[in-house]
Amino acid sequence: MSARKARGSDVVIVANRLSVDQVTQADGSTSWQRSPGGLVTALEPFIRGRNGAWVGWSGAPGEAPEPFEADGIRLVPVPLNAEEITRYYEGFSNASLWPLYHDVVERPQYHRSWWDTYVSVNEQFAVKAAEVAGRDGVVWVHDYQLQLVPQMLRALRPDLRIGFFLHIPFPPQELFMQLPGRRRIVEGLLGADLIGFQRPQGASNFLQLARILCDLKPSHGTVAVDGRTVTARAFPISIDAKSYDELASSAEVAERAIAIRKELGNPDRVILGVDRLDYTKGIGVRLRAFYELLQDAKLTAPDTVLVQVATPSRERVEHYVTMREEIERMVGHINGEFGSIAGPAVHYLHQSMPREELAALYRAADVMAVTPYRDGMNLVAKEYVAARGDLGGALVLSEFAGAAAEFRQSYLVNPHDINGVKDALARALFDPPAHRKRRMRALRRHLFGHDLDHWAQSFFDALEAEESTSADPS
Ligand code: ADP
Ligand code: F6P
Repeated sequence: MSARKARGSDVVIVANRLSVDQVTQADGSTSWQRSPGGLVTALEPFIRGRNGAWVGWSGAPGEAPEPFEADGIRLVPVPLNAEEITRYYEGFSNASLWPLYHDVVERPQYHRSWWDTYVSVNEQFAVKAAEVAGRDGVVWVHDYQLQLVPQMLRALRPDLRIGFFLHIPFPPQELFMQLPGRRRIVEGLLGADLIGFQRPQGASNFLQLARILCDLKPSHGTVAVDGRTVTARAFPISIDAKSYDELASSAEVAERAIAIRKELGNPDRVILGVDRLDYTKGIGVRLRAFYELLQDAKLTAPDTVLVQVATPSRERVEHYVTMREEIERMVGHINGEFGSIAGPAVHYLHQSMPREELAALYRAADVMAVTPYRDGMNLVAKEYVAARGDLGGALVLSEFAGAAAEFRQSYLVNPHDINGVKDALARALFDPPAHRKRRMRALRRHLFGHDLDHWAQSFFDALEAEESTSADPS
């Protein structure tokens, strides 16, 4: 038995997914690949080498594999059966909470059986975390799928320090009050010592709800609960900017970026979109804007092309099925009208790809279009900026992405205003190089001063400060 197993882990991450997903090959054998999404991107480099463990679901139904070690992280799988996946993951997490927390971009659905399973699965995660964490350890719970875990875990292990971070927006009272189980969710989060949000607005929405639903008296970002002090604050998440910069400026990536442009037929201009295929990401908005710019003859194809990478995501949830059909219909429509024998106007890739290939795409793109209707942060925007050590490229960014609060020097757009998006795309493409460079330099300055380490460290420092305040008898 390893020493870590015997005494438990000092730091435990609890997230819906492990940092790797179990995939079954055509021959029935199984292997592990990196999980999708921003949460894993952010946490994996942080936890490595910190005597850390990661508790999460393997991404596949059925029996959980035994705990194992990967890249210096102890991975502790939680089993989910097919019914739990349908009700807890696809149902309550992704068809109730996800649309509700993203401004009701699509209509949330509520079913009592989904809620019941959400509660029981949260309990399973809490029990597993309680087993894995060492005495007086720190447990950091992540995201909307596990909002009940802090309270459940505290009941099991009062010795632990518990942090919670929400990677997506936290909605205002008018929307949150729709939620069946709303008080339980707020109480669940209040089990943590420190609750982190992407934006200050999320923290103040939460504290207001604690007052309304739990009859508490928040003051100056904290609230007293059962003799403890709970703090709610913004910690805007980031990426490992330095390592992304290094990757993107390597000779291999630079060569691949040139090869990509060649494979695209050496267009004059490349616009890029990279997203999980999610209805919150506003992929249709940028397709529409590109289409109209071609119609208006402000752009011509294939001199200008749009490359849209759309990672497959939540493929059994109804809204995702319909939005995929919509997006693919639009791509077909644009290419039918503006493509030629020389090549399409829109290159659409419904697939995930290695980091190196993404970095090369970032380097190859003249304009990165990030146009979500609502997004907690959007790490793709940060990766693009980190990748542009050459000060080339321009970022068109939705005002409704968390990143917009930091990236004031990007070409900010309202994704609901198609004319505004068209205008911003055109400016980002045609502004003088010196002007684009100035903007990119400012974005990079901000990013490198607020990277992943800064985020994780400030969260941990605040969690420790929390402990000393709570332990202070005076
Ligand atoms: P979300 O967390 O909603 O998925 P983010 O933009 O914050 O959105 O994070 C997405 C993460 O997933 C980024 O790290 C990005 O590099 C990665 N990613 C996006 N598309 C792909 C893809 N096709 N293949 C591999 N990784 C991808
Ligand atoms: O923060 C957004 C998020 O839901 C993360 O929790 C998750 O890692 C990512 O998006 C990808 O989503 P999923 O795990 O549902 O594929």
